[in-house]
Amino acid sequence: MRILGIETSCDETAASIVRDGSVVESSVIATSQEVFTDLGGVIPEEAARRQLQCIVPVIERALLDAKADWSMIDAIAVTYGPGLLGSLIVGTTAARTISSIRGIPLICVHHTLGHLSSPWLDAPDPPLFPCLTLSASGGHTDLWYRTSHTKGDLLGSTLDDAAGEAFDKGASLLGLPYPGGPSIAKCAAGGNPAAFRFPSPLQGVDTLDFSFSGLKTALRYIIRDLETPLENCKADLAASFQHAICEHLTSRIAGAMKRRPDAREIHIVGGVSANTCLREMMRSKTTRNVRAPVKIQYCTDNAAMIAAAGFFLNREDADAAKENVPTQASVPLRAAVA
Ligand code: KG4
Ligand code: ZN
Repeated sequence: MRILGIETSCDETAASIVRDGSVVESSVIATSQEVFTDLGGVIPEEAARRQLQCIVPVIERALLDAKADWSMIDAIAVTYGPGLLGSLIVGTTAARTISSIRGIPLICVHHTLGHLSSPWLDAPDPPLFPCLTLSASGGHTDLWYRTSHTKGDLLGSTLDDAAGEAFDKGASLLGLPYPGGPSIAKCAAGGNPAAFRFPSPLQGVDTLDFSFSGLKTALRYIIRDLETPLENCKADLAASFQHAICEHLTSRIAGAMKRRPDAREIHIVGGVSANTCLREMMRSKTTRNVRAPVKIQYCTDNAAMIAAAGFFLNREDADAAKENVPTQASVPLRAAVA
């Protein structure tokens, strides 16, 4: 089964063709990230205007790269939410229009189910269930116990900022460019992660939820109280801040392993799963196989993960896959997984 995935939930316009839920035949992503790097963040209206311009060329390029034509597409999977409303409207309107005019079935996908489906894109071996999945992006941070590709329980989620948001806000305090994750990781290379002490969020509380706002506030106070110029200790500060975020994320996986010892694998997904420090710390904390997306471009927002999610949704819950879900800016996290 060959699925065209379309994803436009934030500033990216992405289209991809994926066969049988894992073989990526093409993956095209047009981002306007350079513009938003200069502006220090995404401006929703500007993002949607740019997406309107490139949605058709991006879909055409995805077909061309896969050497496919419309007769070879069995379904169209599109992100219906959550995300920026204007951006979502561009993607879902394109998908609904093509579906209706060409008579190709439409599958509406929750953005988080897309991230949860990214570890099997181009993966050499299939995932083992049950598994624990940490999903950490700019918009969400959550922990799941999954019994299949599309089914499972939500174990915890963030009470305030998302992990990627903490990286983005931390980078801004450090005078580093947006998006903050990659720029903090780059600045932290060669820095000492033990140079500055950060508090452990929600310490002593029996929970698998996350909290990152305290780390960001601690960073603000450390910078305010520095006795040397920030430039002299930026690498150490970036490394210590990055380490504190990764420590909090890995501590939750360790807690979840105690509660769900039958989990056979650990998956990390979402933009923050691109972080090398996080991958290394996660692998050092568990004897289980730690699976992250095979390519960095499958960690951050992309359409291949939406096509993969659509495939398994159709296979595991054909009724849910047929549902014509309205385009929505906010959707409960739990709705991602049945
Ligand atoms: O999944 P994603 O592309 O979009 C959302 O759904 O939010 O994630 C974007 C987030 C940004 O906050 C970015 O700073 C973070 O992922 N990120 C990283 C890295 N690459 C991207 N965080 C840490 N280390 C990275 N290498
Ligand atoms: Zn995302």
